[in-house]
Amino acid sequence: MEQYVIKGGRPLEGEVTIAGAKNAALGILAAAVMTDQEVTIENVPNVRDTRVLLQAIQGIGARVRYIDEHTVAICGGTINPNTDLCVDEYIRKIRASYYLLGALLGKYNHSQVALPGGCDIGARPIDLHIKGFEALGAHVDIANGMISVEADELIGSHIYMDVISVGATINVMMAAVMANGKTTIENAAKEPHIVDVANFLNSMGANIKGAGTDVIRIRGVKSLHGTTYSIIPDQIEAGTFMVAAAATRGNVLIKNVIPKHLEATTAKLEEIGCEVEEFDDAVRVRAPHVLHRTHVKTLPYPGYPTDMQPQMAVTLALSNGTSIITESIFENRFKYVAELSRMGAHIRVEGNTAILDGVETFTGANVAAPDLRAGAALVIAALVANDFSTVCDIKYIQRGYEKFDEKLRGLGALIEKVETDKEIQKFKLKVG
Ligand code: EPZ
Repeated sequence: MEQYVIKGGRPLEGEVTIAGAKNAALGILAAAVMTDQEVTIENVPNVRDTRVLLQAIQGIGARVRYIDEHTVAICGGTINPNTDLCVDEYIRKIRASYYLLGALLGKYNHSQVALPGGCDIGARPIDLHIKGFEALGAHVDIANGMISVEADELIGSHIYMDVISVGATINVMMAAVMANGKTTIENAAKEPHIVDVANFLNSMGANIKGAGTDVIRIRGVKSLHGTTYSIIPDQIEAGTFMVAAAATRGNVLIKNVIPKHLEATTAKLEEIGCEVEEFDDAVRVRAPHVLHRTHVKTLPYPGYPTDMQPQMAVTLALSNGTSIITESIFENRFKYVAELSRMGAHIRVEGNTAILDGVETFTGANVAAPDLRAGAALVIAALVANDFSTVCDIKYIQRGYEKFDEKLRGLGALIEKVETDKEIQKFKLKVG
């Protein structure tokens, strides 16, 4: 089983380049099948989630051509709408295959996808996706672990999102782009990846206004056409490296970013004493030896991102004083705390709040990644400990971080991906 072996205790220093945004790519790759013409998408992150979604897209009959590691051409014209547009085995691997529900409903007025499971961070219902599809005139049926959506005709509607939901906003936006008439999505999510999916659909001929605000207005069009589109940089990968620089007291230039998308993370790092220098498409993080405490509450964008919560917890666990983190988006996103405590962190969880009493440093340990962002956070913790650590279940980390260990080695980290104890011993002998 693949795992990372790490010898920590060294500040991260140097430059790292950020890949395309996973959570924009998943919506965009799904939306690409909504035209019968070829669509070329650039800056696609080469991570497990995008690879699996592309398999699902091929599985329903679309043509997928890999132009290079980060560029893919998709043609939805080869999909046979009379077959059951069923996405089954892939959804179990990644949740975002459910974007094909909205994309195929929007194009063919029907589709069927296996229900996404919950996951380690919470129940993650899809009631708002269903509410949106039904408001557009679709009949939704859930049976045998599958969700089927079907409509004689999709008619524009006014949809209020009870909870701000990234997935439901993207899914309903896709279902509405070729509906008859106007659709308004109220209380829409405003994340940069929502804007990226909307811009992508507009480049295909859709008529979407207001993405990035809490009211998105969509005028249905007859059809969509081919396009070439480049995905925005990943704000969470960028934030992860910013926080890793802070935790290891390093000095790192993070390139290929949109600084505005990082504002919440930048603000928190400055509050704890880091220096964050912004450039047009890069940020530099310098960290002092002593970090200060602060409070963090996760919120929908532009608030502090929930996907940056575990990573910031590692840094606050090393800061002077007592910090508080409130997780307001998901109900179970502190699973990493038990593992972090085995490395010497002093964290108490009460409901959706973590109280962190800062410690000087961590000790090495063998830990397991409970989910994608918690896994990245545990790697950061291992990079701090002046000791050997292993992080297993790295398949979670590989879902959302491209070449994570390679990029960290580029910043001076002693980290390797290994499979056997023999390789671990070899690493220990090599780094001493
Ligand atoms: C997206 O998940 C991201 N995943 C998540 O990133 C991210 O944490 C989340 O948005 C919040 O930003 C992708 O984009 C693939 P939500 P999503 O719908 O769309 C509730 C990562 O690490 N809700 O915005 O599933 C839900 O329970 C992943 O990259 C409903 O109640 O999240 C949650 O409390 C982890 N009903 C809140 O809304 C619904 O129908 C926000 O969830 C849908 C959601």
